[in-house]
Amino acid sequence: MKVMILGATGLLGKALMREGSGDEVTGLSSRDVDIRNAQQVREVLEKARPEWIVLAAAYTDVDGCESHQDLAFAVNRDGPLNVAKAAKQIGAKLIFLSSDYVFDGKNTVPYEIDDTRNPQSIYGRSKAEAELGLLEVLPECCIARTSWLFGRGGKCFPETILKLAATRPTLDVVNDQRGCPTYTVDLARAIAELCRRGASGIVHVTNAGDCTWFDFAREIVKSAGLATDVLPVSSQQMARPAPRPAYSVLSPASLQRYEIVMPAWRDALQRYLGS
Ligand SMILES: NC(=O)c1ccc[n+]([C@@H]2O[C@H](COP(=O)([O-])OP(=O)(O)OC[C@H]3O[C@@H](n4cnc5c(N)ncnc54)[C@H](OP(=O)(O)O)[C@@H]3O)[C@@H](O)[C@H]2O)c1
Repeated sequence: MKVMILGATGLLGKALMREGSGDEVTGLSSRDVDIRNAQQVREVLEKARPEWIVLAAAYTDVDGCESHQDLAFAVNRDGPLNVAKAAKQIGAKLIFLSSDYVFDGKNTVPYEIDDTRNPQSIYGRSKAEAELGLLEVLPECCIARTSWLFGRGGKCFPETILKLAATRPTLDVVNDQRGCPTYTVDLARAIAELCRRGASGIVHVTNAGDCTWFDFAREIVKSAGLATDVLPVSSQQMARPAPRPAYSVLSPASLQRYEIVMPAWRDALQRYLGS
């Protein structure tokens, strides 16, 4: 497959670049192409003519999106539409990375792909609007929603917890947000498989199982053999600019249709810590 990765310098992008052996993979950063610039996007894609475009480029600072709304919508909604239009012109297939934050978190059972979007944050809104726009411009595209990414090559939750735990006797971590931690290595592998299988429509792709951030932090500290006490606190006690869904577990049913089975997040965490 001839694959182009947009957002190749990001957490997921780096894993995608490592995954693509056997394929002809090109990866671009925002320096190579700014997805907000429709003409630049068109020129780059017309020149490269990939069969598949994996769109992992985004403005992912969820709190930053609240204070930089124009930037959030320009990169996360308008950018993907520029890419979709260019993809359509050259006949390329597109897989777009979206987020669990398109949901409001009021569910008590895992979200299915056709559950109603009701984002609570600007980041979530920008992703939800991108999804709707993409389905109009390129109805056959694939939208891969994922959540709680961790991996090598960028800032992520386990890395932050390990740094803090190394210097503090206790750590406060929120215990009222539940989701699915997802290892970039496993996600990259699943994305490559989705491309091979010609995936289309919305798919939920996360590691198996779910937990709260508190559970996740406790597992990280325990696995690293650290003595730090992890203490459960509420989101209210740790107020942040962007509201987060209380429950954003994504159902794996859509992925199972492609016969792709994701490893459990605890197993993924052990592999990450050992890497
Ligand atoms: N991280 C998570 O927990 C999470 C959860 C759910 C969904 N997702 C989605 O998964 C995807 C990958 O996330 P990530 O955590 O790997 O992101 P990331 O580490 O923040 O990387 C973002 C990437 O996007 C590129 N980029 C930013 N603005 C751009 C622009 N205007 N034009 C072109 N490229 C631009 C960056 O390039 P530079 O290096 O040049 O800046 C970088 O390669 C995103 O779509 C994100 O929304 C992430």
